[in-house]
Amino acid sequence: MASARGSFGSRFGFILAAAGSAVGLGNIWGFPTKVGQGGGAAFVLVYLVCVFLICAPIMIAELAVGRRTGKDPVGAFKVLRPGSAWWLTGALGVLAGVGILSFYSVIAGWTMAYIYYAATGAVTGDSTATGAFFGQFVGNAPLSIGLTFVVLAITAGTLLGGVKGGIERMTKALMPMLLVLLGLLAIRAVTLPGAEAGLAYYLNPDFSKVFDIRVFNAALGQAFFSLSLGMGAMITYGSYLSKDENLAKSAMWVVVIDTAVALAAGLIIFPAGFSLAGFDPNSSGPGLIFVVLPQLFATMPGGHLVGLAFFVMLTLAAITSTISLLEVPTSHLIDSHGWDRKKAVLVLTGITLLLAIPSALGNGASAFFSNLPGVGMGFLDLMAIVWNDFALPVGGFLLSIFVGHVWRVDKALEELNTGGAMPGAALWGFLIRWVCPVAIFMIIVFTALDLLG
Ligand code: TRP
Repeated sequence: MASARGSFGSRFGFILAAAGSAVGLGNIWGFPTKVGQGGGAAFVLVYLVCVFLICAPIMIAELAVGRRTGKDPVGAFKVLRPGSAWWLTGALGVLAGVGILSFYSVIAGWTMAYIYYAATGAVTGDSTATGAFFGQFVGNAPLSIGLTFVVLAITAGTLLGGVKGGIERMTKALMPMLLVLLGLLAIRAVTLPGAEAGLAYYLNPDFSKVFDIRVFNAALGQAFFSLSLGMGAMITYGSYLSKDENLAKSAMWVVVIDTAVALAAGLIIFPAGFSLAGFDPNSSGPGLIFVVLPQLFATMPGGHLVGLAFFVMLTLAAITSTISLLEVPTSHLIDSHGWDRKKAVLVLTGITLLLAIPSALGNGASAFFSNLPGVGMGFLDLMAIVWNDFALPVGGFLLSIFVGHVWRVDKALEELNTGGAMPGAALWGFLIRWVCPVAIFMIIVFTALDLLG
C-alpha cells in the first residue's frame, strides 16, 4: 500500500522536494564552471535547448513510470515488463545513487567547512594563497573523511524520518532559505564594480560556438545531472505522489526552478569573478568556488558575511540533493527486498561512507588515490566520469526507449492524464520517442570517443 511506504503530503511539498533534489552543487558550482569552459553565453543558450527539449520530457517520463507503479526503479520496471531484463535499467540507477553520493558527499563536506572558513576570514590573499589553502585543506585526510561523515549523517537522519516527516519536512525548511540567499547574493554581485564585463560574457552569445558538438555534449550532460535524471530519482519521487497531481505541470515547475537557480548562480559568479583582476573564466575550472571566490570575499566590504551566505547556500543545496541520491537505493531495499527503512538507511550509509573514503583521500592525502596508476586521474574524478558521464546518460537513454517504444506513449499518457489532461501531449510523445534517445545516444558515443582521445 502506498501509505505504508510513504507519500508526499502535498503538491507543494513534492515540488520542493523534487526541486531540492535537482538544485545542488550541479547548479551553483557545476553550471558556472561549464559556462566558463564552454565559452560563456553560447553554452547557456544550448543548455536551455537541452533542458526543455530533451530533459523535461525525460523527467515527465520518469515521474509517470514511478507513479504508475508506486515502486522503486527496479520494482517499477518489473511491474511494467515482468520477466524481462528491463529491471537492470533500474538497478543501474540504484548503483548510481550510491556511486554519485560517494563523491558528492565529499564535495558537500568541503562546502560545509568553507562556511566556517568564510565566517572566520581564514582564507585570504591572491589566488596563489587561496589555492594553497584549498590544497592543504583537501589534503587533510581525517578532516575530509570527518566532513563526509557529517554530510552522510545529516542525509541519513533526514531519511530516517520517512518521506513526509523527513524528506518533505527538511526540503520545505531548506529550500526557501536557499532561494532567499540566492536572491540576495545575485543582487550583491550585479552591483559590484566591474560587473558589466561579467554580465556581457555571460549573456552575449558567440553564435559560432552554438553549433559546436562539444558545447552540445557538455550542455546535455550538465542538464541531465542538474535535473537529477537518468538514475530513477524521479521514478522514486514520483512513486510517492498522489494520483490527482498533474505530472507534467509539476515536472515543469521543477525544471523551471532548477534552471532559474542555475542561471542565477551564473549571475552571481560571473560578475563576481570579473570584478577580480586577471580573472579567466575558462581556466578557473573547478577551483572557481573554493579558490577564486574567496579572494573576493576577503576583499569586498562585508565580504565575510557574503562568503558565509554563499557557502551556507551551497551546503543547503547539496544536502537536499544528497537526500534524493540516498533515497533511490533506500526505496529499492524497502520495496524490492522488504527491508525496513531504518536498516536500509543505515546499511546504505555505511556502504557509501566506505566508497567515499578513496574520494576523500584522492585530493592529496593519498598519492595512490590522487593519481590512480594507469588511469591518469584521481579516484574522485574517476567516479564522476563513470557515474555522471556514463551511467546517467545510459540510464536516460534506456528510459526513453522504454517509455517511448516498450511501455509506449499511449500507456504513459493514460498515467499522465490522470490528474487532468496533459498539455502538449503529442509533442511530448514525439520528443520521448525520437529526440531524446537519438540525442542522448550521440552524447554517450561522443563522450566515449572524447575519453579515448
Ligand atoms: N541534481 C543534483 C545537482 O545538481 C545532483 C543530484 C541529486 C542528482 N540527485 C540526483 C543527479 C540524481 C543525478 C541523479 O547537484
